[in-house]
Amino acid sequence: MKIFTPQKTLLLLIVISLSGCNAGEKNNSNKTTPDFNPDVEIELTAKRMPMPLLDGKQTNVYHYESRLIKGEDSSLSNLKDSYLGPVIRIKRGQKIRVIFKNNLPRKSIIHWHGLHIPPQMDGHPMHAVEQGEQYVYEFKVVDRPGTYWFHPHPDQITGPQVYKGLAGLFIIRDENKELPSGEYDQPLVIQDRTFDADNQLVYLDDDPMKQMQGFLGNQIFINGQNKQARNVKQATYRFRVLNGSNARIYKLAWSDGSAIKVIATDGGLLEKPVSKSYLLLAPGERVEIWKDFSNYLSKEQITLESQAFNPGTAMGRMGGGMMRGMGDGTMQSNVSPDNGEALKIYTLNVTQQKGEVLELPQVLSEIEKTEPSKAVNYDTPKKFHFYNERMNWVINGETFSMEEVAEWEKVQLNTTEVWQFINGDDGRGMGMMQDMMQLPHPAHIHGLQFQIIERDISGMDAAVWNSVKDGFIDQGWQDTFLLMPGMKVKVIMTFKDFTGKYIYHCHNLEHEDMGMMRNYEVHK
Ligand code: C2O
Ligand code: CU
Repeated sequence: MKIFTPQKTLLLLIVISLSGCNAGEKNNSNKTTPDFNPDVEIELTAKRMPMPLLDGKQTNVYHYESRLIKGEDSSLSNLKDSYLGPVIRIKRGQKIRVIFKNNLPRKSIIHWHGLHIPPQMDGHPMHAVEQGEQYVYEFKVVDRPGTYWFHPHPDQITGPQVYKGLAGLFIIRDENKELPSGEYDQPLVIQDRTFDADNQLVYLDDDPMKQMQGFLGNQIFINGQNKQARNVKQATYRFRVLNGSNARIYKLAWSDGSAIKVIATDGGLLEKPVSKSYLLLAPGERVEIWKDFSNYLSKEQITLESQAFNPGTAMGRMGGGMMRGMGDGTMQSNVSPDNGEALKIYTLNVTQQKGEVLELPQVLSEIEKTEPSKAVNYDTPKKFHFYNERMNWVINGETFSMEEVAEWEKVQLNTTEVWQFINGDDGRGMGMMQDMMQLPHPAHIHGLQFQIIERDISGMDAAVWNSVKDGFIDQGWQDTFLLMPGMKVKVIMTFKDFTGKYIYHCHNLEHEDMGMMRNYEVHK
């Protein structure tokens, strides 16, 4: 047995931590690290394939095909007849290795949306690999139990890759016995798609105005399937809702007027449930909804709807949401409804079967509030203006450049900062023209979870605000939030554990692809 003096132990610790750091920054991420011993190991292959999504002809999609190499069977499950990738389930504290193989005709890389992992593992576009190449992810899961997800992140072509089917859920399990589990714990991924007469996916039609808006489809897909309804027992359910759409925002409500009971946001369980008449869910965001069907009668139908709202665009302000003859909220026409038009999302048919009924717990978790006074820049928050400049979507006048980091995008390890996101240029730009080009932007920061400390609506149009005002949940941990036209949102976050470059961007995927994305860098 070796005996270490304190000095030697210290030296050893320094050596270990340095080598750990180097392993994190390895450039040879196409190989597995022999001394990394994962609890779960998965191979994910992105490939093109035909799938029977609609009646008749098969649809050509992109798909993450998966294989469990190591770990419990329940770590990996597939949604049946779905273009979506698998659901990965893992526990906090476990280590995972994912071998990503790119068999697509274009470069790609996977981003683990919401996770706190080293920059090399985060799916920065600079790490994208070409067809036939692979990228190996190895990391420890340190985040709170909750509903996270993964999707491609190559520069300029994230939108089309997600649209064609590349996305999956990454669930960090909790052991909470008071919450619905097993068959009562269900994913609910909402996406919109458009098909041509040949059952093939239609993307942007090469229409620059559609790209400027972001893709809006004319048909809702749930969990990557063309099923607008499902049966439920007279029981209590937990729905893990992800808005996996490229650009569509939903204002979710139950058709019978019952309250939406929210138990979790992006970063896991809230401290206590929040009851809402409706709730806004922007692309990239997740919520978990508690729904008890035990008081419904057999054959009753409850529909999750998206209610009309004013998106604050020039169109929305003038017309207040033209309905295009789809007043019943179903999408049939070939024209895609605008953001803010009413839609039906998913109908739940209550059967006569009785199942497990639970009482909604009044305490769900503990959330440590980050003290604003802890922020190094509390009095002078950094400002990030999201707006349109000469037909480009920009952040503070800049667009994405692979390695570029501005002075205001540098942050120091182990510090807390306040960032204020502003939808609009504060009159610095093109006035009327920029006003015409105002759209909602879902803002997303990689590599961490933050807390929202202020939503300033003083610059908002009252009609816009009134149509969405009850739909925000700012109590929990977030990685994505909706920034409506004229809105200013302050978030507080701490940069810890890892140094290097991460990105932040608009999660309207077409805006992201057009460059509404930037690096921020955590340095020592
Ligand atoms: Cu879900 Cu950078 O994205
Ligand atoms: Cu945007």
